[in-house]
Amino acid sequence: MVFENSIFPITSEVNSVDHLVLGGCDVTDLMEEFGSPLYVYDEVTLRSMCKEFVSEFSNLYSESSVLYAAKAFLNPAIANIVREEGLGMDVVSGGELAVAINSGFPADSIYFHGNNKTRDELEYAIQEGVSRIVIDSFHEIDLLEDILASKNSFQDVMIRISPNVDPHTHIATTTGILDSKFGFAIETGDAARAIRQLLKSQRLDLVGIHFHLGSPIFELEPYESGVRTILKFLQPFIKEGLNLREFSPGGGFAIGYLSHKLPPSIKSYAQVIVESTKKYLSELGFHSPKLIVEPGRSIVGRAGVALYTVGAIKDIPGVRKYVSLDGGMGDNIRPALYDAEYEAVIANKTSLENEEVVTLAGKYCESGDILIRDIKLPKLVSGDIVAIPASGAYAPSMASNYNLNPRPPIALVNEGSAKLIRERETYQDMIKTDKM
Ligand SMILES: Cc1ncc(COP(=O)(O)O)c(C=O)c1O
Repeated sequence: MVFENSIFPITSEVNSVDHLVLGGCDVTDLMEEFGSPLYVYDEVTLRSMCKEFVSEFSNLYSESSVLYAAKAFLNPAIANIVREEGLGMDVVSGGELAVAINSGFPADSIYFHGNNKTRDELEYAIQEGVSRIVIDSFHEIDLLEDILASKNSFQDVMIRISPNVDPHTHIATTTGILDSKFGFAIETGDAARAIRQLLKSQRLDLVGIHFHLGSPIFELEPYESGVRTILKFLQPFIKEGLNLREFSPGGGFAIGYLSHKLPPSIKSYAQVIVESTKKYLSELGFHSPKLIVEPGRSIVGRAGVALYTVGAIKDIPGVRKYVSLDGGMGDNIRPALYDAEYEAVIANKTSLENEEVVTLAGKYCESGDILIRDIKLPKLVSGDIVAIPASGAYAPSMASNYNLNPRPPIALVNEGSAKLIRERETYQDMIKTDKM
């Protein structure tokens, strides 16, 4: 039976014993095989999101390129899949770059972002031959000039400009306003100074401009405002020698976390970005640059489901019923960090009627370790399996060893088979870098 829920992976079903099935695998079998808690990624959903981005953008703008924003979740298996689907990659650290390179991802389709890349990271990126370094500060320009001079080398770069557009996301995930650590601000004159400095550089070739507003962005209008603001700001620099060969309005496309709050389609994001880009390019006299977009969450978010087992249940009559799970803020910090909201189903009895309001708490020693506050669910008992959908982005990638809990394993499922793409961390893994 198809599981009618658009925030779960595309392949989600319910089988004859009322269990949730992902990628053809009964989740209770997955829990038995790999233990609890467990993250499951559905390959079909992952590939279909990649395909949808590539086709929606290239149908509307032939010279376009989709980069997967690796910060959402990176691992060699994921790197292979996004590569096979024809995406490039955006990395923000030496670590992400190392995983990409070691997975065989071609350096010439990697863009390196970040507001404070270290000298070591920049040297590593240059040595590996990354396609573009997206410069975020004057400090970075100085570091790059110095490194390139010492190697008598050259590098294609973009710069990140802040358009001062509010995409109405949580303040902690809003990145393109004036009061942000990211990018060169237009208002302060920094963006103009950075462009002029780079146009004079002998070693840095300014091939394009990037901005990123924040995430997850449920509205379309901020993209139009961002494109308009940046292209209007850039227009006078054409006379000064700016040759805009690439233009990137970043990522930030929303996904459905709650079934009553679904995002616009990828087609609508593509339309607003492409239409506004074409309009202002032609109005302002630019040649057509390559268009770059950087989806992260919208590629992996829906593909991932977090599975937990119910343990202790504490009822405070008239106040709250806490149902504790065997994971929590160590594997998904988003509710504690951003007040992120999720839904859940009971994966071992999916069709039972919801009958009581409970709070799904984690196992970490923090009162703030709550995964879902006040959710109506069927009556839960210890041993039940709770599935939280839309957990593929920024959950495993932000996971920690807080309380020295090992991080959960990750299984990739497809057509009834499952393989671990990350093993469960062990106590030994956690102590191997410590010393007496
Ligand atoms: C520069 C840049 N590009 C792309 C992204 C990806 O955002 P999302 O995962 O919401 O698509 C981010 C996220 O922080 C970012 O900083």
